[in-house]
Amino acid sequence: MPEFIHVADVADVSDPGKVLVEVDGEMIALFHVSGSFYAIDDVCTHDGGPLVDGELQDYTIACPRHGAKFDIRTGAALSMPAIRPTHAHDVKVENGSVSVRIREPGSGPNGTPSPSSVPAVAAAHAVPSQKTDTTTRQHDTPSTGTPDDAPTETQSLTTQTLSEDLVRELLKQVKDPELFVNIVDLGLIYDVSFSPAPDELKQLVSIDMTMTSPACPAGPQLIADTKRVVNTHEKVADVEVRIVMEPPWTPDRMTDDARDQLGIF
Ligand code: FES
Repeated sequence: MPEFIHVADVADVSDPGKVLVEVDGEMIALFHVSGSFYAIDDVCTHDGGPLVDGELQDYTIACPRHGAKFDIRTGAALSMPAIRPTHAHDVKVENGSVSVRIREPGSGPNGTPSPSSVPAVAAAHAVPSQKTDTTTRQHDTPSTGTPDDAPTETQSLTTQTLSEDLVRELLKQVKDPELFVNIVDLGLIYDVSFSPAPDELKQLVSIDMTMTSPACPAGPQLIADTKRVVNTHEKVADVEVRIVMEPPWTPDRMTDDARDQLGIF
């Protein structure tokens, strides 16, 4: 098991306060709150934001980049857009000296097995994802009592008059594969515009879309799904998707529906 390494004197860190320290080559955010010290990786699990630069409130640190919150005592992710915990480490205070011991992956406090690998936010996501699956089934399967040849909701959308609202409605079929929330309610669609196509009966659709982070691994899939879904409309000749990072996405762009599905209020 790794050793405790001296990182600071108690008097060096105000209460409440935070400071960046290095332990065994790892950058660690050290917190001093109500007389106790806590240590977590200085890495936001959403997209690598430096947690020590965030706002500390009681036992919660908010990532300065997109606002995800973490519990400094456990590393648990408390709010979007982070869904995985960051690592917490052991802290010892003796004779005014603060020492940190890096926890090995999968271990809990002082070498005990980690109590749970399920992050708080991910657990909150798991239940609502089943609710959203219900919505998908409503699109795919006619409800009881509907004639087999009656148009489904999606089919009828693809023949209605083309408009920005209609495109946004179509795009609600595209869901973030990690969060199981559609990209419209997540606030990822910034702009929808139209221009004439060579076939005068059709339109070219341009969509300005953002990501929750510049390195979002789901980006290529979301772009492909966006094009596929909008192309199903009978009046669409082609779809262009532009990824824009300005203004950057922030959680307050989500609708109340998205917050409800993610269990955050
Ligand atoms: S990098 Fe921390 S919330 Fe995005």
